[in-house]
This record gives sequence, C-alpha cells and structure tokens, in this order.
Amino acid sequence: MLTLASLFLFPQFKTKADDGMWIPLLLKKYTIDDMRKKGFKLTAEDIYSINNASMKDAVMIFGGGCTAELISDRGLIITNHHCGYSSIQAHSSIEHDYLTDGFWAMTDGEELPNPSLSVTFLVRMEDVTAQVLKGIDEKMKESVRAEIIKKNSAEIEKATAENGKYLTEVTPFFYGNQYYLFVQQEFKDVRLVGAPPSAIGKFGGDTDNWMWPRHTGDFSMFRIYVDKNNKPAAYSPENVPYKPKKFFPISLKGVKKDDFTMVLGYPGHTQEYIPSYAIKMITETENPARIAVRQSKIDIIAADMEKDRGVRIQYSSKYAGISNSWKKWIGENRGLARLHSIEKKEAFETDFAKWVSGDKNLLSKYGTLLVEYQDVYKNLSPYALASDYFFEAIWRSEIIQFANRSGGLTNSKDLPKDIEALRKYSEGFFKDYNFETDKKLFRKMIEMYYRGAGKDFQPELMKFVNTLSILEIAENEAFDVFTNHLYQNSIFTDKQRLNSFLDGLTNDNLAQLLADPIYKFYRDFTAFYVSKIRPENDIAETKIDSLNRIYMKAQIEMDTARNLFPDANFTLRVAYGKISDYEPVDGVIYKHYTTLEGILAKDNPEIYDYNVPQRLKELYKAKDYGQYAENGEMHVCFIASNHTTGGNSGSPVINANGELIGVNFDRNWEGTMSDIMYDPSQCRNISLDIRYALFLIEKFAADKRLIDEMLLIK
Ligand code: ARG
Ligand code: ASP
Repeated sequence: MLTLASLFLFPQFKTKADDGMWIPLLLKKYTIDDMRKKGFKLTAEDIYSINNASMKDAVMIFGGGCTAELISDRGLIITNHHCGYSSIQAHSSIEHDYLTDGFWAMTDGEELPNPSLSVTFLVRMEDVTAQVLKGIDEKMKESVRAEIIKKNSAEIEKATAENGKYLTEVTPFFYGNQYYLFVQQEFKDVRLVGAPPSAIGKFGGDTDNWMWPRHTGDFSMFRIYVDKNNKPAAYSPENVPYKPKKFFPISLKGVKKDDFTMVLGYPGHTQEYIPSYAIKMITETENPARIAVRQSKIDIIAADMEKDRGVRIQYSSKYAGISNSWKKWIGENRGLARLHSIEKKEAFETDFAKWVSGDKNLLSKYGTLLVEYQDVYKNLSPYALASDYFFEAIWRSEIIQFANRSGGLTNSKDLPKDIEALRKYSEGFFKDYNFETDKKLFRKMIEMYYRGAGKDFQPELMKFVNTLSILEIAENEAFDVFTNHLYQNSIFTDKQRLNSFLDGLTNDNLAQLLADPIYKFYRDFTAFYVSKIRPENDIAETKIDSLNRIYMKAQIEMDTARNLFPDANFTLRVAYGKISDYEPVDGVIYKHYTTLEGILAKDNPEIYDYNVPQRLKELYKAKDYGQYAENGEMHVCFIASNHTTGGNSGSPVINANGELIGVNFDRNWEGTMSDIMYDPSQCRNISLDIRYALFLIEKFAADKRLIDEMLLIK
C-alpha cells in the first residue's frame, strides 16, 4: 500500500497498477492513455461509442448473472458452459442427456429455444449525478435522502425508456457519490446452439474450480433471434438470426507472456475501499462461519453422492453451487491474511487520520469517520454472525424454501391456481430430492445454528434441546429426535403426503398447513429473524452505507495522485492487464498457459471430474488439431492480470487489436481476495483459449458451419 509519504517521495508511482474495472464512458478521459502505453492499439471510441458501432455492442449480460459476446454477423454468441448450464440442463432428459453427451445443432432449425433466457445490451450510459441528487442536502436524514434519490431516479428511468423500448436503470457508483443512467436493450429469443459434454465443459469439476493450472473447456454457444426488421421479439418460429452492429473477429495467433489483454464484461460486486474493521468482520467472523456451515453440507452431500448415482444426478448442481462460494471464501481468507490486508488498511487509516487532522475543514467533515466505523462494526458483528447462520444454515435449506413457497397459500386470492402452481413446483423439487440426504442436512444445520449463532439468538423453538435434556436425552440425540419428528410428519418431506394434502385443500382447512411441523419451524424461525436479528442489522447497514459514501468521497479527495475506479456493481466495465505467470509459493512459477497434454495427464475414468471422453483422446493421439495448434500443442487455458470478479464469467478477452483471444471464466485460488484487495503479484483471471473452443467445434463436434460463419484472423 502506498502511504501518503511515499507518494510524495516517489511521484513516479502515479502510473497505474493492474487492478481496476473502468467505466466505458470515461475511458477517453482517464484510462486510454495508460492502456495504449501498455500495448492497446485501438481507441476509446472503438470500445465505447454511441455514434458508431463499438465493442460494447458485441458484449451482453447473459441470463442475469454472466457475460457473453457476439462472434458472427448471424447473432452467434459464446459464453461459459457454467453460464449456459441451466439451459443445457433444461433440454436434457434420459433420452437426450446434453449435459453428459454435449449438444450441437447442425442447422439453424435444430437450435433450441429457451423461454426463461434473455440477453441485454448496453445502448448508452450517462452521468446523471446532478439530476439524481437534486434536492439533497448533506444534513438530511438518510431515509429522506434515499426517498428523494429513489424518486429522482424513477423519473429519469421513465423518461428515457421510450415507452418500454429500453430497460433503463439509474445505478449508484462510489457508494452514492455518483449516479449513472444505463439504457439497455433486451433480446428474448436466445437459442442453444452448442455445448461440449460436461466432461469437457466442466472438466476438473469442483476439484479444480478456482484453481490454476486449469483445463476446463468452459464454453457454450447460443444465437440471438429477432423479428424480420432485426428488432428484439418474443420467441417465434418466424424469427431470424440477429444481424448485429458489431461482433468480435477471432484471433488464431494465441498469446505470449506480457501481451496486452482486456476484459469487457459485467463484474458483480467488489469492496475495495472498505475500512479495516469491515475486513476484520468478514475474515474473522463471517467467512469462518459460512465456510464451516458449507463444509458440513459438502461432507454430507458428497458422501451420499459417492454412494448413490441417483443422488449424484440429483445433487450435482446444488453441490456445485454450495461448493463454489465455500471454496472462494477459503481462498479469500487465505489471500487476505497472506497480504496482511488488515495491517495495510490500518496503515492507510493512520495516514488518513493524519491527512484529516492537518486541516480544520477536513476535520469537521471526516474527523469522526473512523471511530464511527469502529463502533458500528462492533455493534453489527454479533448480528451479522447470527444473520449468516440464519441464512446459510436455515433459510437456504431446501425444505425451508419449499415451506416458504407454500406460505402463499395462506393468503391466496385464487386458491385452485396457487395449488396447481405449488404442485408443479413440487414436481421439480421432489425430482431432485433425497429424503435421507435432506434429513441429514437439516439435522446438522439446526445443530450448527444452535452452536454457532450465539446464546442471544435462539428462537423459542430451539428450546427443545433443553426440554429433551430434562428427559435425559443428550444434546446430540435431541437434534435427532427433533429432526425425525419433523421429517416423519411434515407434508414437505413426502410427495404422497403433499399431494393428498393439496387434493383436499380448501380455504376451510388451511389450518392444517399452519400446523405442519416444518411449516411451523419455518414460520417461527423466520419471525424470530425478522424481529430479533434483522432490525439491528438494518440499522447498522444503513449507517455503514452512509459512512461508506462519506469515506469514499474522502478517499477520492485525499488520493489526488491516483484515479480510483468504482467498485463493481454489475455494470459494463473494462479491465486491462497482461498475460502473466505467477509465483504461488516461494520457488514455484506457474506458467501462463495449459495444454491438452495436461488433460490427458489428469485422465482417470474412476474419478468423475477427470473422465476424459474417448473421442478427445483419439484427437489427441492423432494430434488432429487443424489450424488451432501452436508448435504442435493444443493450448487450453491461459491466465492474465485482468481485474475480474463474479459476473465476468463469459466475458470476451481481447488482444491489442480488438480481436477475441479467449473467454473469461474464473480466477486462481491465491487471488480470490481481489474482491477486497488486489495483489498484482497473485491475482489472475483464468480464460479459455478460444482456439481450444474452435478445435472442439470443428474436430470434436464436427460442426464446421459454425466455424464458417466466424471471422478468423490468422
Ligand atoms: N468459480 C467459477 C465462478 O465463480 C466457476 C464456477 C462454476 N464451476 C463449478 N465447478 N462450480 O463462477
Ligand atoms: N466464475 C466467476 C463467474 O461465474 C468469475 C470469477 O469470479 O472470477 O462469474
């Protein structure tokens, strides 16, 4: 961390480090010179322009949590396999198991529509800070301030939507110091074009997730369809492939160490400017609790998946979700410790306090900030812990979600319709439900809540532990007894019981639902959370929001030497850096790319995550790589120093000439703390080498028509 003193001593440190997620609209003003200095050959207008076609017209939000990009003039798009996963799964059945076998449409006609999938492009963005903050004065109560901002934003959004043609949204930046309007256009007819088998698209599974070296062929392909006028339209068989303003040419030249790279996409959430107290709470209280809860879930599910193939199929997607964040938090905690992040923030705060105390005006604006932070985090900590336990152990439980969903019946306006909806939901629920696995999970989770959330945060119903102890039932056993009672009697744990309940349900016997033991547990526990945990949480969070806004303003004011980037907020950003190896531990260098060689080295038919498809082995043996090899080797993935986070999955990775060289999909474990503190020596984004995807499309899937519609730069 640069201290103020060092800035004065070494003004040359002004040049930017590799971290940063930059606002496309402001590239020209702040960023493009540095990008060009580092090798970029095009202009800011080539990335973001409202007058001419630019890269932003080829990048989109995919399905609400990922990024994707256009790669042909017929609306062809590429994203990650894990981003297309639910669409691929939705089309899969025992007869057509596209998850296992892959899927390739050989004609437009074979491409598969996805009713619940859409993509969204940025049309333009605009700084609307002045309009949004109209009527605000700094002495206002936070709640009044929030009301005014909400009202001003809604007006802007309405005025710019052109009667529903666009989706418009005003989004805060720098914790509410700036506001931007985003005008976006949504396309709703997006069809599945191709996906490799999971043994390629998810190769390495959760074992290799968040890790480098990596060999995952994490891509899938879709196509945008539009009406005859090239305008967005709901699905129709009459629709035609979209003719975009811009798509990415694809480079076959590959990457070398130190090459310039750029990632355009939708990073979700980072917290680079929080104080040491916040990092302390995250690393010492929240992450350990969340990691422990998920560790227990993982142990239970993994053991049952190992024993039973049916359970494996039912729980693999749930398992991936649980383990993804679990592993990320572990990496984050290790990385933050290794970086001495708390000490670094404390050193910064010492400098900050010195800066503030040197000026009367600053002192009156910022003098109490750090003390207030310290107080509020001290108050929040036990509530944050209880809240984490509530959400991770209780609320996220599948059976509790199911009960929550059925709660709508109690105040239904159209009971027959809602009963049908719940019946339909229950089909999907029970398809992926294993009674024994779920019971074990529930049993463990209530125990973890009981032991972890703290004495002051136990709802009445947890008293069963004491009650049973009167009967000389040990604590351990008490959880068994309680769980058995719930699971043997509830309508939510048995399809037949649920259906016969729904069959006989009228407005007159809804009381039966209220008496259901799992429903009661859900309701009482949630009510406890809402009355005893959430209020204090909300008060602290509101206070923190306000402190963050002021602290952010102060940090910008203090650090005039650097141009700070706003934290990620799922708006389009540009990150740039270079292809770069790294030293994960003393004495070891991790190379910047991996090859097919490494996939074969991991091959093991006994291990689910490493079962290499026969056909890929044959292509490897024959070295049949077409035009996609480099010195006889098939490159698979590469790493670079682009600052990315969740949401950047599927983002285009671009070379100095604006050509696509890869598809971003992950980060390395040593670098996952980059959401809180970026370390240029350790933080790397992991991308699929686009040539591996092309090789798979042409040689593995033999879907040459897709290659033919792309623009390949040799
Ligand atoms: N870690 C990557 C991201 O955060 C990929 C996750 C999907 N893969 C998995 N094995 N769960 O989303
Ligand atoms: N895998 C993440 C995603 O799905 C990307 C990341 O966190 O680096 O967006």
